[in-house]
Amino acid sequence: MAFPATRMRRLRKTGLLRDMVRETELSPSHLVYPMFVELGTDSRSPIEGMPGIERLSISRAVEEAGAVHALGVPAVLLFGIPAEKDEQASGAYDEEGVVQLAVRAIKEAHPELVVITDVCLCAYTSHGHCGVVRDDGEVDNDISLELLAKTANSHAAAGADAVAPSDMMDGRVGALRVQLDAEDHKETPIIAYSAKFASAFYGPFRDAAGSAPAFGDRRSYQMDPANADEAVREALLDVEEGADVVMVKPALPYLDVIREVKDATRAPVAAYNVSGEYAMVKAAAAAGQIDERAAVLEALTGIRRAGADIVITYHAKEAAEWLR
Ligand code: PBG
Repeated sequence: MAFPATRMRRLRKTGLLRDMVRETELSPSHLVYPMFVELGTDSRSPIEGMPGIERLSISRAVEEAGAVHALGVPAVLLFGIPAEKDEQASGAYDEEGVVQLAVRAIKEAHPELVVITDVCLCAYTSHGHCGVVRDDGEVDNDISLELLAKTANSHAAAGADAVAPSDMMDGRVGALRVQLDAEDHKETPIIAYSAKFASAFYGPFRDAAGSAPAFGDRRSYQMDPANADEAVREALLDVEEGADVVMVKPALPYLDVIREVKDATRAPVAAYNVSGEYAMVKAAAAAGQIDERAAVLEALTGIRRAGADIVITYHAKEAAEWLR
């Protein structure tokens, strides 16, 4: 006796019905494209390990942002590479700093594109830590909060549509919210990197931003990859402090965390498919070992299925082309 066809098999055979019952949708409208902006004139500098991604001068970033937007990607996330770094990360909150200038230029050229800025000190400090380091070598949480709030405020003043604190200092979402409200940026949303794990997958990013810590590591302020309950607690705390979107980062090793954070908060959730995840796919594809297009669309669909409303990915531009 032949086995009866399963219900899904019957549906799959009718292409239209298969499409109608598909549970997860992936479209360019869910994606955010991260960009590295540097000072300089019409420059593009390649980033080791991240083929296709470059550090761009502001004029080039304006062009690239326009190209990505034209493909249906609604938002970019900006990281700045300052000319100078110092102990106080002064480039981070300089009104004429690289991110502030880039935000103004991109918003002027592409007013409909959502411009999100990463708020952290690590690319601006001479030692590469995400906060201010005291004489005893420890990161000072509370002094760092003041500078982070100042940074977020300067981004909002330049026209950023949303700010995304990635530093993981305690109390930073509340500190940013208070400052933004006080400075007339009540409507600027906070996309909080709530569950940011101390991950090996940030390697290529740190080369790109020149932000690898000169001493120690980030384990005192980033999370232990073993902890999912803690991730949920952090996300709930951030929502309480005023986060409009909570983020899990990296994405693929933490799909369970994305789901748990979604279920626990019922808030909009973003997931960051980080530089090392991108580099792995690019390396395997370059070696002819995987079909890049199929692998990327599968991975991004998986991140969406896990519960992410928004997926931040260096593949956004290519994925948008493939999804057209
Ligand atoms: C800054 C920051 C990092 C990333 C985003 N914001 C690096 C880090 O924590 O070292 C990583 C992004 C990526 O790897 O793509 N704190």
